[in-house]
This record gives sequence, structure tokens and C-alpha cells, in this order.
Amino acid sequence: MRLKARFAGPLRGRARPPGDKSISHRALILGALAHGQTEIEGLLESEDVLCTAAAVRLFGAKAEQLDEKRWRVTGAGGFSQPHETIDCGNSGTAARLLMGAASGFKLSARFDGDQSLRKRPMNRIVAPLSQMGARFDAADNRLPLIMHGNALKGITYRSPVSSAQVKSAVLLAGLHAEGETVLIERERSRDHTERMLGVFGAAIDTIEIDGGQHPRVRASALHGANIYVPADPSSAAFPIAAALILNNSEISVEDVLVNPLRLGFYETLLEMGAKLTYEERRDPIGEPIANIVAHASKLNGVNPPARRAPSMIDEFPILAIVAAFAHGETRIVGAAELRVKESDRIGLMVEGLRACGVDAEELPDGLIVRGGGPKSVRGGASIRTQSDHRIAMSFLILGMASREPVTVDDAQMIATSFPNFIECMRSLGADIREV
Ligand code: S3P
Repeated sequence: MRLKARFAGPLRGRARPPGDKSISHRALILGALAHGQTEIEGLLESEDVLCTAAAVRLFGAKAEQLDEKRWRVTGAGGFSQPHETIDCGNSGTAARLLMGAASGFKLSARFDGDQSLRKRPMNRIVAPLSQMGARFDAADNRLPLIMHGNALKGITYRSPVSSAQVKSAVLLAGLHAEGETVLIERERSRDHTERMLGVFGAAIDTIEIDGGQHPRVRASALHGANIYVPADPSSAAFPIAAALILNNSEISVEDVLVNPLRLGFYETLLEMGAKLTYEERRDPIGEPIANIVAHASKLNGVNPPARRAPSMIDEFPILAIVAAFAHGETRIVGAAELRVKESDRIGLMVEGLRACGVDAEELPDGLIVRGGGPKSVRGGASIRTQSDHRIAMSFLILGMASREPVTVDDAQMIATSFPNFIECMRSLGADIREV
């Protein structure tokens, strides 16, 4: 499916993007590992998350939709031998978290994924899980692979990358390992696994090492819990970016997860001069929530520090678009991880920005965008997305504010994270159509 976005004036109104992807995967997996029932309200019913729901069923749990976005998971207190391949689709989170969760059980499971996921590195979890005692039959440490679960031993693991997927895989394995498991990372990645493990009754705390606090888990039984899934800040980023760059816009994006470890993009926008406020802050579920109100703003280029990268890792594509409409240079560094996401996001963003007449340059670990202000972006290109959902959504936002419309070559994959993206954007005033 090809989509075209064109200028249609300011955005106005309120929107509630779908549930947070990270929390949705974790609620299903922890519910499946737990004893008893877990009810999840607001689950993101996207392709990625539905892969995880199908996977936990293959591992022996019951996962049923009660009504729209309300799910019940009945866990068996552990995973059993699956009789089919675990198909993780496009989702790195599904693959890596499920491998960690399954690695402490006596089972052998074959994991596979789509063309994009088959290219992504799995050695980052194969290495620590092997140290703990799991075994892998894997060519080149990529999918498809077979994982043989085992009696595990706890480890203290210094992760070479600040990745919540690696951290979560190791901590989930630690739930069924002898002794304690500690995960050390240089910059803290999102902490939803740690928070939710607490809610499910796991023996989790933090330990101080080298002056930093790091999560530690011991073998524990989980008990079913009630989980509420707020709106995903990584999806909210798209309408908010559009409102900032479209003159006279004013929108409120509601019920958004505002966990500080997910807010790097919003912090950077504020530094660029964005008129952005958090309203009605609340914390009913162990995760903070707020409405984010955004007004069209005069923006300046900015240099976000490299250490901020993990807290905005999924938002770099849309930040690069915002930077094109700002005045001056934005230099993104410390983001080499973007090369191993659903696509090489550095390469594709620079290619697409240049095709739209924006001055952009690749760096090994990021990119430079030289913005010329609101009217400077020509657009008028057909963008190659390599089926990456966030590349597709980012360039549709560009097309809403550029002088000429923008087409993206494949918008199908938007369903992996933001299934009602087009409806949501249209309800605020966007002109996005199938072509
Ligand atoms: C995720 C962690 C991030 C992020 C992904 C979701 C998670 O990946 O890019 O979309 O739910 O743990 P890394 O932790 O590998 O950077």
C-alpha cells in the first residue's frame, strides 16, 4: 500500500494513540509466566504484539481478547514445549524477550521472523543467555535459530549496548536461574520490565555497582496482575511533531506514558524551542501518564547529547524530520543502534531527506540535518521505506508540511506499531490518502 501526504493546514483537536508497545509485549509475557490470571486493559493490538500473543499461547498460556483492547492471560507458571515455530514477525522485542523468558525451561524452541528481523543481530542475547546455560543452534547468530532451554545460573552481565531488549532478556532468564542476576548498562534503557516484574511479585531490586544503580533479580514465582497500558509516547511523537511544524496548530495527545526513560525526544523538542506542556500528570499504575499539549512553534537546531540516545531510540527518524523544519543544524550522535533497527534508519533517513530537498549528511553513529525553517522543505519525493514503519510515518509527517506532497512506497508495516495511524492523523486534520 502506497500513501501520499499533502499540506492541509493546521492540526487541531485531541487524540489518544494506541497502547504502549513495550508495555504490551511485557504484559503478555509476564502474564504467561505467572500463576493465575492477568487482565490487560488498553493492549496495543498491533502485528508485533499479536505475534507475542500467539507465541505465549504456543508456550502453553491462554491469551484471549475479552473485548476491544481488553485481554486476559492465564499463565501456567512457566513455559512448556511449543509444537510450532515461534514466529516473531517484524518484532525484535518479541524475539529477544521471549528467548530470555523461555531459556530457563526444559524446552527447545525454533524462533523465526520476517526478512527484516532475520537480518538483525541476536548475538547480543545469545551471548548472555549462553553464559547462563542456554544453548543455541544458530547460523551467524541470526534468525531462524533454535534455542534449547536449560537449568540456568545467574550472572552479572555488563551489556555492551544500552538496550532494554538485552536487559529484559537477561532479567527474564534470571527469574528461573540459580542465584542472582544483575544487568549493568552504561546508559539506562527503558525500565518497564523492572517496574512490571515488581507488580507481578518478582524478587527484583537494584544494586549499586561503580556508583550506579543496576537491576538485580532472583528466582521467583510471578502472580497474575492487572495491567493498564497507557498511550505509546513513541506513537504520540508523530502527531506532536506534525503540530509543531504546521503553523497555527494546537493539539492535545492524551493518556501518554511519560516514563522519564522514554522522554528524550520530548526533552530535545523543548530544547529546540517547542511549545509543549505536560498536563494532568498522574501515576495510577506504577508508570507515569500525562496529556501532552503541543502548539506550532519556531524551532532551532540542537545537538542532543549522545547519552540521551537510549531514551529516544525510536524517535530519531521523526526528530530528523522536525530538524528539517527548524532553523540551523541538528547533529545526532551516539545512535549507531539505528543501523540495526527494522532498517538502517540512518541511511534511509538521509536518503529520504535529500530526496525531499533537505541538506542532510550521514555520520557513522548518527546524522546531521541542516534545517532552513518552515517553508524551506520542498518534499515532492517518493520515499523508499524498506518496509520500516517509523520511516513511513516520519516521511508522511514531512509531506504534511512540505511544499509538495510526499509518497511512501509501503505503508503496510505501520500496522506493526500504530494500526490506526491514518485515522488518528486525519481526525486532527491531516490529508493522507492511499494512492
Ligand atoms: C524496546 C527497546 C528498544 C526499542 C524497541 C522496543 C523494548 O530496543 O527500539 O522498539 O520494548 O524493550 P533496544 O532496547 O534494543 O534499543
